[in-house]
Amino acid sequence: MVQFMPAHKHSLLDSELLYLHELMPPETWDQLPSHHPASSWLGGHFSLRRGQKELNYINTEFLEGRMQWDRYKQRLLRETSTQYQNLTGRHEREDLHIFPRMRKNHPKLARGFAILDNDHHTIKAQIHDIRALIAKLRQAEAADMAFAEKLAKAMADSGQWLYRHLSDEEDLVVPIMGLGY
Ligand SMILES: [Fe+2]
Repeated sequence: MVQFMPAHKHSLLDSELLYLHELMPPETWDQLPSHHPASSWLGGHFSLRRGQKELNYINTEFLEGRMQWDRYKQRLLRETSTQYQNLTGRHEREDLHIFPRMRKNHPKLARGFAILDNDHHTIKAQIHDIRALIAKLRQAEAADMAFAEKLAKAMADSGQWLYRHLSDEEDLVVPIMGLGY
């Protein structure tokens, strides 16, 4: 039997959930036309990865003394707002519209969609906690290194989770989209 490997080294998926890769191998995904739904969907993931990198960058710049508190605060408030709005909106569309239809059409992948669903809940809770910290940051007048470290860690940890989630989601969903649901 053919074995399919998920892309992420800490993936929660297994070969059994990746059988559509036989018809739609990952190395063919970038050959999809740019107007294809799978391409624009992958483009959204690219933006989320870039947004997460930006958050990590701002945190590191401040913690390593290359960015002043005011600038750090201003940029972080702006970037977190955009990133978490994008992420939340996207997950809502997936939960309400995209995934229920895929689940219905591909009952053998139910276990994979349960993993993605659980990820969405975890990420929602992480965003909730980070937003509570961001609300404190908004009020903070003076530089607070310990607080910035705490915030950076919460964002980086959530980012690690996000990267694994996006990768698993692509492994499960792109072949479905590529094959026309
Ligand atoms: Fe997702």
